[in-house]
Amino acid sequence: MIIGIPKEIVSGENRVSVTPGVAAKLIKLGYGIQIEKEAGSKANFTDSQYEGMGAKLVDSAEDLWATSDIIVKINTPTTTERQFLNKNKTLISLFFPGQHKDQLKSLAVDKVNIIAMDCVPRISRAQKLDTLSSMANIAGSRAVIEASHCFSRFFGGQITAAGKIPPAKVLVVGAGVAGLSAIGTAGSLGAIVKAFDTRNEVKEQVESLNAEFLSINIDEDGSGNGGYAKTMSKEYIEAENKLFEEQCKDTDIIITTALIPGKPAPKLITKKMVKLMKPGSVIVDLAAEQGGNCELTQKDKLVDTDGVTIIGYTDLPSRLPSQASQLYATNIQHLFNDMTPKKDGQLMFDMDDEVIRSMTIIKEGKITWPPPEVKKNIVNNKKESRKNITAAIKEKIRPAKKSSVIGFVFSILGLIGLGSVAPPSFMAHFTVFVLACFIGYMVVWNVTSSLHTPLMSVTNAVSSIIIIGALIQISSDNLLLTIMASLAIFITSINIFGGFAVTKRMLDMFKK
Ligand code: NAI
Repeated sequence: MIIGIPKEIVSGENRVSVTPGVAAKLIKLGYGIQIEKEAGSKANFTDSQYEGMGAKLVDSAEDLWATSDIIVKINTPTTTERQFLNKNKTLISLFFPGQHKDQLKSLAVDKVNIIAMDCVPRISRAQKLDTLSSMANIAGSRAVIEASHCFSRFFGGQITAAGKIPPAKVLVVGAGVAGLSAIGTAGSLGAIVKAFDTRNEVKEQVESLNAEFLSINIDEDGSGNGGYAKTMSKEYIEAENKLFEEQCKDTDIIITTALIPGKPAPKLITKKMVKLMKPGSVIVDLAAEQGGNCELTQKDKLVDTDGVTIIGYTDLPSRLPSQASQLYATNIQHLFNDMTPKKDGQLMFDMDDEVIRSMTIIKEGKITWPPPEVKKNIVNNKKESRKNITAAIKEKIRPAKKSSVIGFVFSILGLIGLGSVAPPSFMAHFTVFVLACFIGYMVVWNVTSSLHTPLMSVTNAVSSIIIIGALIQISSDNLLLTIMASLAIFITSINIFGGFAVTKRMLDMFKK
């Protein structure tokens, strides 16, 4: 069968559904691949890269749709694209059938098969196909970058000769896939991050990313079915609003991602709260598509309200097109792996497979959506996505740990090698030296870079331990030694008291 990859025509869309690397893997599964010219150019994948992997270039969209058996794209077909879809073709794309019921009916009449990438069931086996989580991960990270672009200060705190720069304070509302990704990115830029979620189970994940988990004094948990949230009681939302009202006065950036599937986004940031924020503050509302978590959000717009910038972009994954295309294409590759068991280039709809059954929304003219509830092996797919995101972010922000262990192992091996040839007295001193280097390295590496200056001043103070030598020598019979020792005690005292005083002052600057 021939797979066609059209250029995405929705305005502002930069992604492409299949990357050259994934095209090569689909060819290995027995498919022919053809791609519309320049389909990948906005995501930095050139036509020659696709050709190099064995794909055929097609000049026009019309030709591509007409000569392909399977169309793989990202966005729901537009009216123009809809005209190209005819009998017996298979479309694989995001579709959101609940919102496109008319199109669903008309495509069924034309006997088109449709696999919706947004209908992946929540079982752990299907996680590799979970496009919504892949994109939410990117959106969360990009939301922080969009905020930093509008925010007129650094994220990280600094102490410079020209004065102190306090770190930015970021509040993330909703610690799901997108929220956790935002927490990780904001934290790695040096901001002080706080987060709130109605599901108490995410507290640990938030804290593992070095952010503070805010809570309210109401005994109600937001965990609903399948790892998604449930609607909270009126009292809970009121208490939540009160908490945000307090936080707004002192927060520079708010990123909202609160979502209850199938419902309009809960309104959590009111006009009054926006007024309480300092001029220059930024709100990024990821839930803009579902009406927004902030009362003043305008979908796809950046608005300025009394000096507070409110961003309601709904195309955040498309703003990181290479990465987003790569993840989407990998989800597609996994789908084809599952649907081509014989590796013969033939798409097999195994309707007994609960994953394929759920994602297939039209099969040979029959609307098969909504699917029956997936009961077997329900494992919280969302939960797992979030866990993976947390693990990935932690891996990203602490790459030093692995290299420290490798360094330690090599040092020990080196010591053993040297010990077999060097004299024992040398080895005793050398071992202490190597251990000191290792411990020093571990201590400094685990201190965040913004604290390196206070660390240096405290190290300076500690290094004045040489005062002990001077104290031993001061009672010597030799006058010259006594004078030199007194001088040493005087100078090291300055170092000790001065070092600790400077450290304390610097650390005070970081206190909230
Ligand atoms: P998710 O389901 O993993 O996370 C949503 C979180 O909101 C959950 O942890 C839930 O407990 C929490 N929540 C629900 N009600 C809340 C409340 N009243 N207060 C505090 N927290 C509450 O969803 P995911 O995948 O992280 O997506 C988040 C949002 O990002 C969605 O609205 C999604 O449509 C949007 N999104 C936006 C994109 C864009 O370009 N703007 C791109 C991708 C996703």
